[in-house]
Amino acid sequence: MKKTKGIILAGGKGTRLFPLTKLYSKQLINVYDKPLIYYPLSTLILSGIDHILLISTQKDIPLYKKLFKDGKDLGLKIEYAVQNKPKGIAQALIIGEDFIKNDDVMLILGDNIFFGDMDFLRKSREKNENATIFAYNVSDPERYGVVEFDSKGRVISIEEKPKIPKSNYAVCGLYIYDSMCSKYAKRLKPSKRNELEITDLNNLYLSNGQLKCEKMGRGIAWLDTGTPESLLDASLFIGAIEQRQNLKVGCIEEVCLRIGFLKRKNYLKLVKKYPESDYKKYLLKIYEEI
Ligand code: TTP
Repeated sequence: MKKTKGIILAGGKGTRLFPLTKLYSKQLINVYDKPLIYYPLSTLILSGIDHILLISTQKDIPLYKKLFKDGKDLGLKIEYAVQNKPKGIAQALIIGEDFIKNDDVMLILGDNIFFGDMDFLRKSREKNENATIFAYNVSDPERYGVVEFDSKGRVISIEEKPKIPKSNYAVCGLYIYDSMCSKYAKRLKPSKRNELEITDLNNLYLSNGQLKCEKMGRGIAWLDTGTPESLLDASLFIGAIEQRQNLKVGCIEEVCLRIGFLKRKNYLKLVKKYPESDYKKYLLKIYEEI
């Protein structure tokens, strides 16, 4: 079966979260009980991806390396690359060209949280032919790329932050591409805001007849965390779920164990090194239960 690699884009300016982002990038800020980046990382892992490139700023890469090292402790392979300037989401695919090589790639934004049964993602990844994007019904589509569908549910257009959205379906920060994506991304011209727009790349695939758009159902929660309000909402949401279920969301060690990337023996070795904390207690409890 073909392989899919993962890219997490975790740079950006984080202007809307200033001064929180004065010291480090927003993906390192906590959402409830763990750094924000744990959530998109666990989404990639749950999709069956164990080889990941983390892209961030020169300043922040050392912090991510401290957090994940080469990923081996988790049963993963994590590599790092610098985005010197936030020149757009599509630039990640150019930076990642040598990493992607001839494989498919799932690109996820480091500030996007998905919660729910993620089985569909693994299936979409396996089914992907050229490009697959995901659309989600939102109340404020004008903040996102917006998908217009025809009566048969086929994509007609994708517009970036339209003043008058043609639907309520926003494009989520999670995309699957074939290995052509880097070449296509290089053909893009910077937009008015001087970014290589992921919407332009998606439109390129669309004009080639190579874009599939799957609607993400209401059983999935998609949260983005770009503003203080949405960051607080995400913390409250995750906190409520975790307290009710007594299970953690975005717990990368647990996810790696459950999916089989991390052997029980290595899991225990890793967890035993953790400082005494509720997180450690939880991981030990999970070990007994699985
Ligand atoms: P945005 O929220 O669009 O931008 P931002 O993080 O710079 O925040 P702000 O608008 O408040 O200045 O970015 C979405 C995600 O993509 C986020 O995780 C940051 C990341 N990103 C990059 O890493 N590099 C980029 O060039 C861009 C545009 C975004």
